[in-house]
Amino acid sequence: MDDGFITLGIETSCDDTAIAVLRGAGDVVCDALSSQIRDHSPFGGVLPELASRKHQEAIIPLLRSVMAEARATPRDIDLIAVTAGPGLMGSLIVGVMAAKALSQGWGVPIIGVNHLEGHLYAGMVAHPELSPPFLCLIVSGGHTEIVTAREGRNYTLLGDTRDDAAGEAYDKAAKLMGLGYPGGPEIELMARDGDSSSYSFPIGMKGTKTVEFSFSGVKTSLRAMIDNLKKSGSDIPTPDICASFQKAITEALLAKVKLAVSQTGIKRVAISGGVAANAALRDELSELGHANGWEVYLPPKKYCTDNAIMIAAAGYAAYSLGERSDMSLSPDPSWSIWKN
Ligand code: KG4
Ligand code: ZN
Repeated sequence: MDDGFITLGIETSCDDTAIAVLRGAGDVVCDALSSQIRDHSPFGGVLPELASRKHQEAIIPLLRSVMAEARATPRDIDLIAVTAGPGLMGSLIVGVMAAKALSQGWGVPIIGVNHLEGHLYAGMVAHPELSPPFLCLIVSGGHTEIVTAREGRNYTLLGDTRDDAAGEAYDKAAKLMGLGYPGGPEIELMARDGDSSSYSFPIGMKGTKTVEFSFSGVKTSLRAMIDNLKKSGSDIPTPDICASFQKAITEALLAKVKLAVSQTGIKRVAISGGVAANAALRDELSELGHANGWEVYLPPKKYCTDNAIMIAAAGYAAYSLGERSDMSLSPDPSWSIWKN
């Protein structure tokens, strides 16, 4: 395979329809996304049925515009890489079926990509100098995981969340405070004007010696806090609550990154997923890395959130190592790639 090899990436695992064209291992030709945030925001979360219908509407127009922008014809495409799981079944089906139809119609090979392996590649596309072994904190609306990535696509799950994902905690907290969706960016914005030492939130698992998270308790505690403030007739100090909440989530995440580094001895740390767009988390991880002599990789926000470049890059890497899919490729909503 040469550097002119062209991969078309397709990502529809949750609520973003994303299509990208990648040249070689990491040269971005075109990267496009159709967001469903406005469709889901009245509900404060992703409605699976609606997500599936919106992907179905968006995918062909997006494909046409990506091919036009990349000035590509079907004959230019060497590989179609599509997210086959984990994710929402109705969403995954749209991407996988589109990819299979294109593969048949164009006579181009297809490869099914694991969405979380895609998140690992987000760091490598954004930072070509990043190579395994490294640790990755994948932190989004559906995932909160610390993973080791080793040579040869060898991945280990060090630990994940027992209940809610960190992004889910942000979204639920925003809803409780009457803020918009998605909650993370709203809380981050409010937190800028708040004092993070105003309130203290209990975060499960923070002091344990295992790489594990729990974010369900923080929501209960926030609800009780808001109820009490309302009962006492006080104004809700939303910026202070947001700053304190953000601090608690950030501390919980970083405590386990620290533990993961000490357990594995791997001092190269990357971050991916929607919550990785959070400036407080990015700044504090940088500082922590600086203080402890780690290499820290913070991909730009557009590669942290769901995108098709990371899927194309992971697909290209797997294909280069001889992996293939065929027309039997089916979405697997709970596909796991961890070798523990
Ligand atoms: O990776 P992503 O775009 O989609 C999936 O969940 O797969 O992540 C979305 C999640 C949402 O829960 C959102 O609230 C959170 O990431 N998020 C943030 C920020 N931007 C997005 N959380 C905290 N701070 C942010 N700036
Ligand atoms: Zn994701």
